[in-house]
Amino acid sequence: MKIVGEAQPELPLTRSNRWDDLPSAKVKRPKKSDPFSWAYTYTGYSVDFAIQALLRLGVTRKAMVLDPFVGSGTSLLACSLLGCGGHGVDISPFSLLLSRSRIAWRPDERLVFKYLKTKSSTHEDRHSSKDVLRPNDASYVEGVVQAICKGRSVTPQTLWRKLMNDTTGRFDSEVVALLSMALGARDSTRLEKGSNPIWYRRVESQTESSQASLRISAANWAKTISHDLLSAPEAGRKDITIQQHDFTTLKTTKRYDLCLTSPPYMNRLDYVVAHLPELSVLQHLIPFNLDQLRSDMIGTTRAVRKYHTEQTEGWGDRCRETLNSIYNHASYASQRYYYHIHADYFRRLSATILQLARLMKDRAEGIVVLQDSFYKDIKIPTPQICAEMLNNAGFESSIVRTTSVKAHMGRLSPAQTLYAPEKILGESVVYFSR
Ligand SMILES: C[S@@+](CC[C@H](N)C(=O)[O-])C[C@H]1O[C@@H](n2cnc3c(N)ncnc32)[C@H](O)[C@@H]1O
Repeated sequence: MKIVGEAQPELPLTRSNRWDDLPSAKVKRPKKSDPFSWAYTYTGYSVDFAIQALLRLGVTRKAMVLDPFVGSGTSLLACSLLGCGGHGVDISPFSLLLSRSRIAWRPDERLVFKYLKTKSSTHEDRHSSKDVLRPNDASYVEGVVQAICKGRSVTPQTLWRKLMNDTTGRFDSEVVALLSMALGARDSTRLEKGSNPIWYRRVESQTESSQASLRISAANWAKTISHDLLSAPEAGRKDITIQQHDFTTLKTTKRYDLCLTSPPYMNRLDYVVAHLPELSVLQHLIPFNLDQLRSDMIGTTRAVRKYHTEQTEGWGDRCRETLNSIYNHASYASQRYYYHIHADYFRRLSATILQLARLMKDRAEGIVVLQDSFYKDIKIPTPQICAEMLNNAGFESSIVRTTSVKAHMGRLSPAQTLYAPEKILGESVVYFSR
């Protein structure tokens, strides 16, 4: 990304026709020449949507925007382009790294390559990443991480926090080197598409010769990312921070003016399994438990708790009706498994909304982008449920736009076409204020 400048766009603050011409949040495949076009599969909405949404929320340079599910950092990139403050939270270390890289503005390609040319470590691999990365690749990652930490008298965890929150650009090369390895790991590890609910799993016996080594893939990614950052539009990052935490349990006294976010959808996508190679690379820098991460994710496919029907009271009528329909569905697994994972999703969505009620300032406004989904033939109206939860938490909320989505994760499950042959989902923009 080019240098921080004063030449940021003037903010048009007029709120006439507020939602009429808001672009669709739907992420279309961008042109290959667009910076970070390869990242579109990680995103919930486009940069154009994020900028236009923030403008319609009346963003000013003094505003502090919260994105509690920062994902690939689209909201923060919009904040940096508009010149306002932003705070992104995400439970996944890979999402943090990707978000942070998208707003990097001073990467030094020579330094990135110096890190990536580091010799492999001779130490035994300390982490479980051996399970996913080939042994040679794991010791290469370990060597690069040691080179990044070398000469800095801080623990890797402290370094990680510095990398995430630096706004001077001083650590941009380190961030780009780490992201290059994470994406290189994806190319050099063969994952197999599984069935619902785990969409990917690692191939047990990998044929070493058929994949490029992580070292080569990482070097290619370093070129791509550096080029993307240097050709991206000018932006500034005066007050943009990123924090790794489960948003539903985040303790902070900070308050925010605006919110722009897209929580996980109830589509049974397991982000941890889907990002296994990328996360395995980061396990060499910061310790975290992949199993725990899977359980803590909103929308986890694991039945982490059993729910009684009365426990779901208080999440709104629409939510209760939907959960009751799942509970009463004739299918064998409905009461044993699906009821509980849906209840868990809505418990965490409700906890998210209560956090927003605590963290947003008086007269705050926000946008939540959400898709609905199907369980068998039952439509799960997540955007409506979210709007009802927001209203119950003291906000005024309504759905201001819905776009149909034909290409979505649900289509990967062949059985779904039996229940809902059309299977067109709605993606909604939920607005709230108080
Ligand atoms: C749909 S993605 C967000 C995409 C983002 N709006 C963008 O365009 O880049 C949802 C994100 O929520 C994160 N997430 C899931 N559970 C979470 C939790 N309990 N706390 C914080 N983040 C969580 C996932 O790691 C994922 O990155």
